[in-house]
Amino acid sequence: MTEQRGNWTSSAGFILAATGSAIGLGNLWKFPFITWENDGGAFVLVYLVCIAAVGLPIMMAELLIGRRTQKSVVGALKEAVGPAWGIVGLWGVLCGFTLLSYYTVIAGWSLFFFGKTAGWMVGGFPEGTSLGEVFTEQSANGGLQLGLSLAFSIATVSVVYFGVQKGIEKIARLFLPILFAILTLLFVTSFAMSGSGEALAFIFRPSFGELDGGSVLEALGHSFFTLSLGMGAMITYGSYISREQSIVKASAVIVVLDTVIALVATVIMFTVIFTAGMQDQVSETGTVGMLFISLPQLFFAEGIVPGGTFLAPLFYVLVALAALTSTMSLLEVVASFVIDEYGVGRHKATLACGGTVFVFTILAALSFGGASFATNLSVPGPIGDLFFAGKTSWFGMADHFVSNWMLPTGGLAITIAAGWFMTRDASESELVDETTPGWFNYGAWRLFIRFLAPAAIATIIIAVIFFGVDFS
Ligand code: TRP
Repeated sequence: MTEQRGNWTSSAGFILAATGSAIGLGNLWKFPFITWENDGGAFVLVYLVCIAAVGLPIMMAELLIGRRTQKSVVGALKEAVGPAWGIVGLWGVLCGFTLLSYYTVIAGWSLFFFGKTAGWMVGGFPEGTSLGEVFTEQSANGGLQLGLSLAFSIATVSVVYFGVQKGIEKIARLFLPILFAILTLLFVTSFAMSGSGEALAFIFRPSFGELDGGSVLEALGHSFFTLSLGMGAMITYGSYISREQSIVKASAVIVVLDTVIALVATVIMFTVIFTAGMQDQVSETGTVGMLFISLPQLFFAEGIVPGGTFLAPLFYVLVALAALTSTMSLLEVVASFVIDEYGVGRHKATLACGGTVFVFTILAALSFGGASFATNLSVPGPIGDLFFAGKTSWFGMADHFVSNWMLPTGGLAITIAAGWFMTRDASESELVDETTPGWFNYGAWRLFIRFLAPAAIATIIIAVIFFGVDFS
């Protein structure tokens, strides 16, 4: 029996789901930190250019391939461009699989810190607690890590199990407004803090002296990650869009929302950090430290964040919701491939895919000291150097390989497919109709997708191979 293919119930439902996919740990965890590392200002400007010039056109390309074929990533690329392109689709499925396997672990940390901060909100913050130790202890506790990631995996599977309308769209409709509300509350609060001026200046005042080639490439790499591009996630979501919806308009809304949320999150975090004068600690503890060490500490420190004890658990609810709307989209890439290509029913496919991914999540969960074989996992020699930059642990290697290899190569292939192998008629008829907004120029899009975007991505790949630039 073939099941009826799911569809979004409305334009807003699709936009919320796709925005939910885009907004995730990339916005709350990665972007603020790379902005920090690259000294703000000029980097943010370059990032905005990358989003507009590369991210937006590719978003349109992925959505149009999906809607045109009404298939998930492998079938869509086969039908839109040719049978050999199924390989690119498989690469995307593998990428979704790999990313999901470790993304879930960080998502699990948000559950832990929600629990911790909620406990402190009620019971008071224990004097002399070192947040650095709290973090290291929880991440090295194998049993705890397995429990947290299992809980998050079950949540992800439960959503995807119910399908596009009753699962994904419903959760996105419910959670995204809550996410926006929490973020707005934190944003407003941040303006009452003394460090807000300094934070805004850091983020928005460009000083080009600090910018080098590596930062430009990092901005470009991150624009793929944050918009969920390069692995066919947006092809998959695009396959459920109705003919009446404008792909151009939807893409613009998704890209703008994702960007605004990343900037707002960054303003909030930097305000807190500048208010407390904690710049040095942040630089020391790295990406992970900003979200899970510095922030919880500051929420409970006296006189920094107004209402901090109450906002702290709320902040981790925000992180968890943002992560869930991304993990469900990652699982959908994998599950919809199995559903479409092998005719397996959704329930069975979701459970099987979720279960298989979890086997690798176990490795990721134990990558922080939970088990020595997982923590010390490595690929030695020149292969290990090239593909994993000598990183160890499943988590470290997978994160490196996805950001530096899978997304850029997948993105390049999708761009070439849309720009050079699909006919002009095919892409034009998807992008241009009576719903298309006036600012859109098809000729310009085609120029970007045929020349500018592939050139930019090829530059990333060359940088990774020859100059060892790391985007993870
Ligand atoms: N965009 C997500 C984030 O910023 C991460 C991500 C990358 C993703 N590719 C994806 C999520 C594909 C879902 C599907 O956190």
